[in-house]
Amino acid sequence: STFETKYWNMRDHVDHVSLQQAAELLQQEEVVAFPTETVYGLGADATSEKAVKKIFEAKGRPADNPLIVHMAKKEQIHEVVQHIPDIAHKLIDRFLPGPLTLILKSNGRCAQNVTAGLSTVAVRIPDHPVAISILDECGLPLAAPSANLSGKPSPTRAEHVYDDLNGRIAGIIDGGPTGVGVESTVLDCSGEKPVILRPGGVTKQDLEELIGEVDVDPALSNQGSKPKSPGMKYKHYAPDAPMWLIEGDLKFFQSQIEQLKQSGKRVGVIVSNEHASELEGAVIHTCGSKEDLREVAVQLYHALRSFDQEDVDVILCESFPEDGVGQAVMNRLKKAATQKISQT
Ligand code: TXA
Ligand code: MG
Repeated sequence: STFETKYWNMRDHVDHVSLQQAAELLQQEEVVAFPTETVYGLGADATSEKAVKKIFEAKGRPADNPLIVHMAKKEQIHEVVQHIPDIAHKLIDRFLPGPLTLILKSNGRCAQNVTAGLSTVAVRIPDHPVAISILDECGLPLAAPSANLSGKPSPTRAEHVYDDLNGRIAGIIDGGPTGVGVESTVLDCSGEKPVILRPGGVTKQDLEELIGEVDVDPALSNQGSKPKSPGMKYKHYAPDAPMWLIEGDLKFFQSQIEQLKQSGKRVGVIVSNEHASELEGAVIHTCGSKEDLREVAVQLYHALRSFDQEDVDVILCESFPEDGVGQAVMNRLKKAATQKISQT
């Protein structure tokens, strides 16, 4: 079905009349996009199978990929899980609200299609005033994946949501650009030892300082093994043009541009500010200083998306160090890339 998608501007302040309109639509089992500190989410009543189904339809999301349940308050977590282990309590106290999603054993209170039939449920408390306001106002736990069409980069601005979903959802709340830029870290706390299923805004080091050693899903470094987070198996975050991930120095990067140009290709590049001033012969989009990976994370998806408006045949993208939030950045870039070109 098609919608006259409503749009509410809450960039500067949370307007109460708009908030009530958006909350009413959610209570009527409609789907509304809202900002979080990581990326925009596509929210629907997590207790309604009918509402949640509309999320999958709007995004074109495979039904076997479960959703994260968003809540306003820590006390609401126990309403959807069997119990909260000690380690999870510690994590909740330290990192929530914030970019950390916990996988816990479900008590079955959420709609079946939220968890895609798994015995666990993903919970998260976003650290964003607009997200908390809409959660409070509608009084519901909201199932919310990133508010992009399946396969596209996640939206870090309301315009990105509009480009993908206008006419497909009931409304969009614009809260301005998001602050973290990559999605939350997904941490499985349902077993003996916590396991990172998706690197994100809270880093491995952050977690280990608090709770000691955490494992990382082997599928994150080994293409062959099956990921524990269903969503991680899909190709994702991809711009329209093929993207090559370049591993090498500036000279190597420039030589790749030259080769492509010689074969008649229009080349786009996504690079750090430092690289941008040194490269030529390509359409250049920067994503911050390579000395500040947090800034790279903030700008990454916008840079990936900006090439969809440019007429390029190939996008070459710089590789970044995999420390701190660089782990999340490189995880996303490897999924977006069609191939990796390494200097040997
Ligand atoms: O920052 C974020 O997490 C954003 C904002 C909107 O909150 N949300 C987000 O949702 O990135 P989504 O649906 O794009 O990604 C959720 C990830 C998927 O990889 C999914 O497979 C995984 O979490 N997931 C959800 N429930 C799970 C479960 N019970 N067990 C394992 N993985 C789960
Ligand atoms: Mg997503």
